[in-house]
Amino acid sequence: MTLTLNYTLRSILAMTIAFSILIGCSGSKETSEEAKQAFNSVIPKPSSSNPSGKTFFLSSATKFQAEGDARAVANYLTSILSKSHGITLQAADEKTEENVIRLTIGGDTGAEGYKLDVDEKQVVISASTPAGLFYGVQTLRQLIADQKGEEAKDKWEIATGSIEDKPEYEWRGSMLDVARHFFSVEDVKRYIDLISYYKMNRLHLHLSDDQGWRIEIKSWPNLTAIGGLSQVGGGKGGFYTQEQYKDIVAYAQERFVTIVPEIDLPGHINAALASYPELNAGPPIVIEKGSDKPVAGKPYTGIEVGFSTLHIKKDVTFKFVNDVIRELSAITPGPYFHVGGDEAAVTKKPDYIAFINRFKEIVKANGKKMIGWEEIAQADLDSSVTSQHWHSEKYAKEAADKGAQLIFSPSKKVYLDMQYDSTSRLGLNWAAYIEVDSSYMWDPATRVPGIEREDILGVEAPLWSETIETMDDIEYLLFPRLPGVAEIGWTAAKDRNWDEYKERLANHAPRWKAMGIDYYQSKKVNWKE
Ligand code: ACM
Repeated sequence: MTLTLNYTLRSILAMTIAFSILIGCSGSKETSEEAKQAFNSVIPKPSSSNPSGKTFFLSSATKFQAEGDARAVANYLTSILSKSHGITLQAADEKTEENVIRLTIGGDTGAEGYKLDVDEKQVVISASTPAGLFYGVQTLRQLIADQKGEEAKDKWEIATGSIEDKPEYEWRGSMLDVARHFFSVEDVKRYIDLISYYKMNRLHLHLSDDQGWRIEIKSWPNLTAIGGLSQVGGGKGGFYTQEQYKDIVAYAQERFVTIVPEIDLPGHINAALASYPELNAGPPIVIEKGSDKPVAGKPYTGIEVGFSTLHIKKDVTFKFVNDVIRELSAITPGPYFHVGGDEAAVTKKPDYIAFINRFKEIVKANGKKMIGWEEIAQADLDSSVTSQHWHSEKYAKEAADKGAQLIFSPSKKVYLDMQYDSTSRLGLNWAAYIEVDSSYMWDPATRVPGIEREDILGVEAPLWSETIETMDDIEYLLFPRLPGVAEIGWTAAKDRNWDEYKERLANHAPRWKAMGIDYYQSKKVNWKE
């Protein structure tokens, strides 16, 4: 009897131990609802993803492996996980095969694609380039499920499966207007973090406008000493020193984001005219008492457009343009220089065309490619030039016909400074009210008749800053619309569908909350708590 009982007890004990090893340590637990949901909610939607029904457990015991060029991306992952989940991944030796995240350069995934394979023992991200690995890491961040219950402490579930992914468009960007209101270096870095979480790879900085000049130009110090001190509404303005700009560029580079500097010329130039009156083509400045009409050459804090222009007939104007493009190009490693070119309403058309043709040569002489807003289609463009479509189909078509490449920023869809509806606490509405469904439901390749997919470099969502002053304001206008624009840039049109997308989007709300993002709770989406 005693013998039998002992035998039975021993069997039960052995079975219990075996079972706990199975569900606990080796992780062959079935995928939880949370992990399944995370796997199915990645934004932008991957090219293909196949769940395999089990679980990998991320914990403070998880290690990483990365060699050579993969190491910098592994360091990024380590620092991100330490901030978001409080765990510090340690480096594993080569032989480690359990509980490890492996990043490897290799295979043939294209310039930005990656493969991600998760089984119960390891997570493997492989890519031809470090950029691809970085995007695999962004996907991995989204796969980490919310914790549920006490027993999940210091242990996060990731559904097993495989993902193969690559972007549709090369240019996936956002623009931040730091001229109408100035934003600090720390704000710009957070902006870079937010866009790169959704695999965007260009940040266009609108560095000058009528209301403010925001980048130090050493050979023209008044640009910042005078032009940097104003902003919309009369606040104190600000500017980046060249060292601060380089710091932003380096931070962006670590996140595979190319900074695209814009100096808006020959219009939208009042901050420079107020700093150096000799650049002004307008009549002598007359300040009417009691009038808030914009006057070119006088510091301006309103939001009207189209009243300022550079003087085309003077050599000093081209010395100014040469110096600005030279100094800013020298601290910009990316290949692009944006010359604005929009809304030059008081520049005579022949002067405008002569200006843009000359800017193109100056930009080229400084080793960069010129980008301009779509009005530059009036000048002599060629395939070295990129035109940014925001408003006029006619200009978009003319630019494409002249061989230029196009970036799509249709103001009725992706001007993220537009209000969601008439009750939005921030934003303007001159282009449209843009709800989250509207900013998602369009396709660059079919938007303008006569413009083909091959003409299009990609998409960019501008955020103009007439009405916004803080990071909270930025986040209210970016979220929830930004992830949808990122998906238009990354995911093929045939794989995009609002009804399916809005379910994935809803599941990102808890992530935004954890990241401290103040988003607009659109009624178009059934947000997850
Ligand atoms: C623009 O909205 N003026 C480019």
